[in-house]
Amino acid sequence: RNYSIALIPGDGIGVDVIREGKKVLDTACEIDGGISIQYEQFDWSCEYYLKHGKMMPDNGLEILKNFDSIYLGAVGYPGVPDHVSLWGLLLPIRRQFQQYINIRPVKLLRGIKSPLANRGVEDLDFIVIRENNEGEYSSIGGRMYEGTNMDMAIQNSVFTRHGVERVLRYAFNLANQQGKRKRLTAATKSNGINHTMPFWDEYVQKINKEFPDVKTDIIHIDALCAFFVTKPDVFDVVVASNLFGDILTDLGAAIIGGLGIAPSANINPEKKFPSMFEPVHGSAPDIAGKGIANPTAAIWCASMMLEHFGENKLAKAIMEALQDVLEEGRIVTPDLGGNATTEEFGEQVCRRLREN
Ligand code: NAI
Ligand code: MG
Repeated sequence: RNYSIALIPGDGIGVDVIREGKKVLDTACEIDGGISIQYEQFDWSCEYYLKHGKMMPDNGLEILKNFDSIYLGAVGYPGVPDHVSLWGLLLPIRRQFQQYINIRPVKLLRGIKSPLANRGVEDLDFIVIRENNEGEYSSIGGRMYEGTNMDMAIQNSVFTRHGVERVLRYAFNLANQQGKRKRLTAATKSNGINHTMPFWDEYVQKINKEFPDVKTDIIHIDALCAFFVTKPDVFDVVVASNLFGDILTDLGAAIIGGLGIAPSANINPEKKFPSMFEPVHGSAPDIAGKGIANPTAAIWCASMMLEHFGENKLAKAIMEALQDVLEEGRIVTPDLGGNATTEEFGEQVCRRLREN
């Protein structure tokens, strides 16, 4: 079994956490013996942008196309506007490779205490599916009359039948097959956003007919945010548009212990193009260079990548080792109340993986 992975550590703590994630992948290969991974590392980042005037070379996507998957840290750094780093690298990869499914588990790992624990929340295990290719993140619109008192900006959302149906079908299917409660919650805002959101709701109801066993709730995004805090244990699969899914999943990250924990997978379900695995968090300029970022999200992403390859046993072994280290609590990073470095944590997970 041979796999090729394009490594794009990116900026800030992206570099630190991907280094540890790769060590864990290497250790997994070492204990398995029958699997080998070829890596190629790319320095595409804001630093690259400052040198070359672009986030990646013109043939960047052409190069990436040939890999089995992409393992990305984070991009974005002060000095380069965030919309430049996002539209120069991350969004083109997600779109060109039709990674229209963004899977973001909201699962409480063994050894992590949810900040909602004092409300009695001890167990959390659901999945947010974020639409990843269209919706509110569209480049359609513009800025007009700048510098006058009529200064204005317009940004259009794009919801297509094709785009909406495929993400809903994926989410319904997931709820139908893996959902413990066979329950799908769809985020909406059809009271205020009166074209795209009623359209979205209509397709939720339409696709629901293909999955009659799945119980569906359509909930306004603002209320849904509150429910993530007040009754997060009722969810099974949550599906949301690009922007709503983005916002919901930082909240999801917070209730499972913070951004240092939360992983994400950008999936092209047809496997026609590589999928991309990246932590939910960004480059964290406030702690970059200090060597204290939590690599848990990145390591979890590595496990999701192996699962995507069908290497379920190894994927599971990584999650067990990771949770053993978290549960032991001796070597954890400052965001979890410890004083270990990124490297110490990563190496402890590798040690554990060998021992288990
Ligand atoms: P951020 O996720 O980088 O940081 C938010 C807060 O969480 C910071 O206080 C940070 O220290 C903490 N944090 C994040 N990851 C952590 C980890 N692994 N361990 C410990 N603490 C962690 O979000 P922010 O500050 O909004 O964005 C910073 C930059 O990252 C921006 O340029 C933004 O555009 C970019 N970004 C990139 C993403 C990507 O490449 N996928 C995603 C989100 C943001
Ligand atoms: Mg985000």
